[in-house]
Amino acid sequence: APDIPVANVKAHLQQLQTIATNNGGNRAHGRPGYKASVDYVKSKLDAAGYRTTVQQFTTSGRVGYNLLADWPGGDEDSVLMVGAHLDSVSAGPGINDNGSGSAAILETALAVAREKFQPRQHLRFAWWGAEELGLRGSRYYVNNLSRSEQSKIKGYLNFDMVGSPNPGYFLYDGDDSDGEGAGPGPEGSAEIEKVLEDYFESIGVPTEGTDFDGRSDYGPFIAVGIPAGGTFTGAEQRKTRAQAQKWGGQANVAFDRCYHARCDTVNNINDKALDHNSDAIAHAVWTLSSNPRLLKR
Ligand code: PHE
Ligand code: CA
Ligand code: ZN
Ligand code: ZN
Ligand code: ZN
Repeated sequence: APDIPVANVKAHLQQLQTIATNNGGNRAHGRPGYKASVDYVKSKLDAAGYRTTVQQFTTSGRVGYNLLADWPGGDEDSVLMVGAHLDSVSAGPGINDNGSGSAAILETALAVAREKFQPRQHLRFAWWGAEELGLRGSRYYVNNLSRSEQSKIKGYLNFDMVGSPNPGYFLYDGDDSDGEGAGPGPEGSAEIEKVLEDYFESIGVPTEGTDFDGRSDYGPFIAVGIPAGGTFTGAEQRKTRAQAQKWGGQANVAFDRCYHARCDTVNNINDKALDHNSDAIAHAVWTLSSNPRLLKR
């Protein structure tokens, strides 16, 4: 897999920041900054040769949009999906939550195009609307697929907050290695976790599992039995002393002190975390979509 240039990911974040600044300070569902964010991401994908579609839905009395981007080629009966929510809360510009995941998967999609990658599986990227209102966009997408379309999706990778300023390195716990909390994801989720784990191990960064507690867009996918996984660098919870010892940063301080706040700006990003996570996304996309032994179902 290619090394994703973190400078490119940061350039997308700067664009999302400017969009928020020019549209009342946010990129929230039903506000002009959301649609402008969709237009920005879509224009990059269209120029790179993706087949894009904008799916409209209505929630809380306002129109929302999911952006889907298919990379031509691969077995369309065996689809790997990669998603991130593109909306912010109305309190701020949402650069870590979730400009970070949105920009990291965008740059991965653009790397697929630059490399003329020809995966065995078909690749579909998604930017979800209205996550902050309760996973509305991703739920709309999954629930509008037929059973047979759902069964073609062999795995879903989710990225929500991957540049937290006081970062942790969490992987959705597909194998329920700690044996507590929400339990494992659908069969196949453990394979996804393993591929991400292998990447972080290769760069010497320790990881921890985090439960599928239903707080992000993998929720509707696992609810219908689609294997899922992904990374997360932490939200409002505070980093423990033990975590600060292994990851650095500040103990007893939130992973993201600007979570859902006005200060979630371009200054609220840890570049190293953003870089490691962007490279992990590329590693997972390349590995999972090329190895015929992975994600069979
Ligand atoms: N989905 C939450 C939000 O957007 C953040 C979150 C992501 C929490 C992943 C837990 C795990 O506010
Ligand atoms: Ca990189
Ligand atoms: Zn949020
Ligand atoms: Zn989020
Ligand atoms: Zn695990």
